[in-house]
Order: sequence, then C-alpha cells, then structure tokens
Amino acid sequence: MKGKTKDIDFVVDSCEDLPRIEEDLGFGYVRLLVDEAERRQAKHDIRTVEDVLIELLRNARDAQSKHILVAVSTFEDSLRRILVIDDGQGIPLGLHEKVFDSRVTSRLYNLIEDDYGVHGRGMALYAVKERSKEAMITASEEGKGTAVYVEIDLNELPQRKDQSTWPKIVCRKGFYEITQGPHNILRTLVEFYLRHPSLEIFVGSPAEVVATLRFLIDQGFFVETVFEPLGGANNAAELQKIAESFRLNISLRNAYRILKGEVAPVHSVREMVDLLAERKRPSLKPLIHLSDLKSLEKKIKKIISELGQKYFLSPVELKVTHRGKKLNISVTFEEIDNL
Ligand SMILES: Nc1ncnc2c1ncn2[C@@H]1O[C@H](COP(=O)(O)OP(=O)(O)OP(=O)(O)O)[C@@H](O)[C@H]1O
Ligand SMILES: [Mg+2]
Repeated sequence: MKGKTKDIDFVVDSCEDLPRIEEDLGFGYVRLLVDEAERRQAKHDIRTVEDVLIELLRNARDAQSKHILVAVSTFEDSLRRILVIDDGQGIPLGLHEKVFDSRVTSRLYNLIEDDYGVHGRGMALYAVKERSKEAMITASEEGKGTAVYVEIDLNELPQRKDQSTWPKIVCRKGFYEITQGPHNILRTLVEFYLRHPSLEIFVGSPAEVVATLRFLIDQGFFVETVFEPLGGANNAAELQKIAESFRLNISLRNAYRILKGEVAPVHSVREMVDLLAERKRPSLKPLIHLSDLKSLEKKIKKIISELGQKYFLSPVELKVTHRGKKLNISVTFEEIDNL
C-alpha cells in the first residue's frame, strides 16, 4: 500500500511542473531538463543543516576571510536560523541575488578541490536556497566582508538532534584528533577549523555574536567592513537596529546588556579546541574582558609615553590584544620633532 501511494505522489508531482524533461527516449527513459537535473542534484548535495553550514564556510574561506562568525538560533523548535559573517572579499552589490542562481560562480579559472570535493560549480548557494525557507545576502560589498543568512525548516531539512555537545578532542603527537561526538554544527565547525587552522571561527547566539563582533572591531579587526557600524553604535536601540539589518536579531534588553559589557565575547573555535583537548571546563575560563583590556591599554599608554619622551618618540598607535593564553602589546612610534 505504501509503495502505491508513492507512485501516485510521483505522478502528481510530475504533472505539476510539466515539462521537466527535454526528451522522451521511450521505454521509460527521458532526458531531464537542466533545471530539473539541478534541482535533484541540489537535493543530493544538501541533506542536512550541517551540509548548509559547510558550504557557507567554504565560501567564506575561499573569499580569503580571516575571521568567520556563525550566529545560530532556533525558532519554535522547527526553524533553524544561521547567519555566517566573514571579513573576506565580499560580493559586489549588484550580485547579491544572482549568486543564488545555479551555475553562477567567480571561480571560472580557479576551481578549487578541498577535502569536501570540487568547489567552483556555482551550485552551492543555489542548492542551499532550494533546500531552505529563506536564503539571502544580508550585507556585503566588494572587499568589505559578507553576511549570508539562511532559515531552514527542520521538517524539510534535518539536523543532528544534539546541538549542544562539543566533540571530544585529543592531542596526539602534536595533532588534534576528534575522537567522539555527534556530527552537529559544533563538530562541523571544529572539523573545518582543524582543516584550516589559520581561520578564527566563532559560534554563538545572535547576542553573543554581536558582542564578539564588537570586541573584534574594537581590537582592530573587521576594519572597513560592512559590519563596522556595529562597533560604533552606543545606544541600545541603534545597536539593535544595526544588528537586525544583518539579521542578527537581538532583544532591546540584550542590546543594553551588550553595551554594558554584560555579554562576554565567545571563545573562538581555536580556543575551544585547546580547552577541550586539555579537558578543562571552558566556562571556567572567560576571555579577558574588553573593559579590562581597555583600562590596561590606558595605563600602558601612559608608561610608554613617558618612556618615549626620553628617546624623542611618541606612540601613535597602541594595541593590547588577547589571543588564547597570549597577551600582545603592540606600539608604533613616531619621532617627535623636537626643534
Ligand atoms: N562569503 C562569500 N564571500 C565572497 N563571495 C562569496 C561568498 N559566498 C559566495 N560568494 C560568491 O558567490 C559565488 C557563488 O557561490 P556558490 O557557493 O554558489 O558557488 P561556488 O562557490 O562558486 O561553487 P560551488 O558550487 O562548488 O560551491 C562564489 O563563486 C563567490 O564568488
Ligand atoms: Mg561555494
């Protein structure tokens, strides 16, 4: 009985979108139209939420990004929202919709082959859009980074049930290895990071991603990107409005909390991998808070200025940054014209 129902479904399906074939070859053989073959391929390529994420990460990586932030949230248990932000090459304004068409690519001469397969068919964003409720570029300009937003109906495209467990990681002979853990979004990110260790990847709720992005902007990253206004916002309503324009939906209350420094920037996946391999509880090791870094910067500036006076040097740029267990202080001097 089940089989029969399926057959009928197929007939109904085929009639709805006629014509889907280019040629009827007889004996039940047909040549599919290109778009029908593409639709079927899209279904094959993207089978889970995690597959969507991989394609967005590959695109961000190929755009020469250094930082990738992934904001994830669910709505009423059945909608998965993913926003991937990067500081890469960006997409020209006129192509924001076109990149979701099939066969649209900028990789005409540089087809890439990575661990996930061939990259440069111009099919991934098309497939993502086919498989999701909504897929759009929420912000991007040439050379100014990109934000790609995808909303997925989990009844149509499933994800791993357990989305809160980080994978188990061990360090063997200097190499990290994943030993256990569900193939969820977190594991997808860890695997991607381990393949591309120069990338700084962050994952969190939209509010956490806003806090992290502001932290990074303050540290001198994401300069001259489309995300920069987020760093400048200093009242909650303005911050909420700018964040929403990227589809980083946060409540007004969270916007206040972010401005007051009450939402800590998240650990990067690199930091998480270190912590997981050391079997330490990451929640016990918060990042040095931005306000502490700022006050440290102030104090150092005073000391450095005094020291510089002795050598007729004046500090023009001073940065205190924090990465993992390392605190970096960088100072650029300028000679003081003493005459
Ligand atoms: N994050 C991004 N930053 C900059 N450009 C992007 C980004 N994401 C997509 N693009 C542009 O959109 C084009 C289409 O992306 P899409 O993933 O559909 O195809 P592709 O990456 O070229 O090939 P494939 O289908 O094998 O992934 C890319 O070639 C690239 O020029
Ligand atoms: Mg791609």
